Amino acid sequence: MSKSAKHSKEEQKNLEKKLGEVLGLERAAQKAVEELNSMKLLESSSKKEILGMKDEANSHEEKIMKLISDISDEKEDLKISQENIEETAKETEKKAVKMMKTYLGEDPDSSEAIEFLAIAEGGEVIHYEVLNAISKNFKVKELSNTVSSILKEEQKHLQLCIDLAKESVS
Ligand SMILES: [Fe+2]
Repeated sequence: MSKSAKHSKEEQKNLEKKLGEVLGLERAAQKAVEELNSMKLLESSSKKEILGMKDEANSHEEKIMKLISDISDEKEDLKISQENIEETAKETEKKAVKMMKTYLGEDPDSSEAIEFLAIAEGGEVIHYEVLNAISKNFKVKELSNTVSSILKEEQKHLQLCIDLAKESVS
């Protein structure tokens, strides 16, 4: 027996699910910014900050991918399936894209665009909060460190979107 505690199947499934969800949300966030930008819905005053947020989403996606590959290779007691995670990521991304279409409707304006981004960032914060709580049960440093550092950046993204949403109507 290794010294680290064994985890129940359920705990491992939860971890897989949440990792898949945050991965899907990071991908959807990048697509959303690209799409809103190509629809000319980003105001020039906030475009730079929003594109910066998209770059960070890309770096989060890479960090989560590296984390998944590291922890599934090295930790024998952490039997997480990269396939299951990818499957959840795809489903989540699809749902998020669908939500954006529903929210924006036929003729969206730039304040609706920024409000949608705020909703998306809120979704990311919630999922990272939950993943952060789950991570604490696993006592795997790379997992908890990566998740808590991304969570802090997501909180900043959410605040930025809230500020921009307020500016867009003032
Ligand atoms: Fe974000």
